Amino acid sequence: MLNLIHVGLELDTEEGKIRILEDINLELGKGKMYAVTGPNGSGKSSVARVIMGIALPTSGNILFNDKDITDLGITERAKLGIGYAFQHPPRFKGMRVVDMLEIAMRTGEMADCQCLRNIGLCPDDYLERALDASLSGGEIKRIEIATLLAQNPKVRIFDEPEAGIDLWSFEQLIDVVGSTHREDNVTVVISHQEKILNMVDEIILVENGMISMKGDQETIWPQIKESAECECRNSCTREGEIYADCPR
Ligand SMILES: Nc1ncnc2c1ncn2[C@@H]1O[C@H](COP(=O)(O)OP(=O)(O)OP(=O)(O)O)[C@@H](O)[C@H]1O
Ligand SMILES: [Mg+2]
Repeated sequence: MLNLIHVGLELDTEEGKIRILEDINLELGKGKMYAVTGPNGSGKSSVARVIMGIALPTSGNILFNDKDITDLGITERAKLGIGYAFQHPPRFKGMRVVDMLEIAMRTGEMADCQCLRNIGLCPDDYLERALDASLSGGEIKRIEIATLLAQNPKVRIFDEPEAGIDLWSFEQLIDVVGSTHREDNVTVVISHQEKILNMVDEIILVENGMISMKGDQETIWPQIKESAECECRNSCTREGEIYADCPR
């Protein structure tokens, strides 16, 4: 359904060009659930951004149902059926929750807003709320997830959906992401949570802008778990020296 072929992303900064992603190759198949995991700053959200067209790759190609979409922008990709729930959802001044959900559902009728209930928000309390700073971090995150559920695109990318969600709602979140997954969808969840990594078909490990491991959940999860327990797995060089005796 969705293919990333030798995708690279470089950004121009004041210090010069920096490499964010390098040689990303992915084949995301219809009906499958994927988890993307890896250390902070490794490039997980950047992978989502290039799939969504928020950042255009500086090398490589992206195919959606065999059509080359590498140069398409966000709106065109959204129309094709690619959707992304941001890690840090933007707030829109002058817009209400109901407006956002109506755009996502492509209908002016919000008679039954199950998507808010599914994520633990009562429509009576939230539909008329402004999408501004008056919403708490967890509320805006839930509304973002509800919007992607309402949109129900062919490719659904949830970027750390658990972030800011309270413990009581976490199980509900996992249930709703799982139960709304369809045989003709692709669901990608960027996450650090063991429960989420255990519910998917395949795990993709991103490290230092590259895919360092990918494969069946049963094969990859034990390897990730083992390497995460190793103390020398630190990005700080000084700590690297301290753990220099580590056999790994
Ligand atoms: N505009 C930018 N300018 C400079 N560096 C950037 C820019 N955008 C992203 N980066 C860097 O690219 C790297 C990858 O960022 P990305 O947001 O993809 O990481 P991530 O794996 O999603 O991390 P996290 O787990 O913290 O969400 C980071 O080191 C980040 O600082
Ligand atoms: Mg991220």
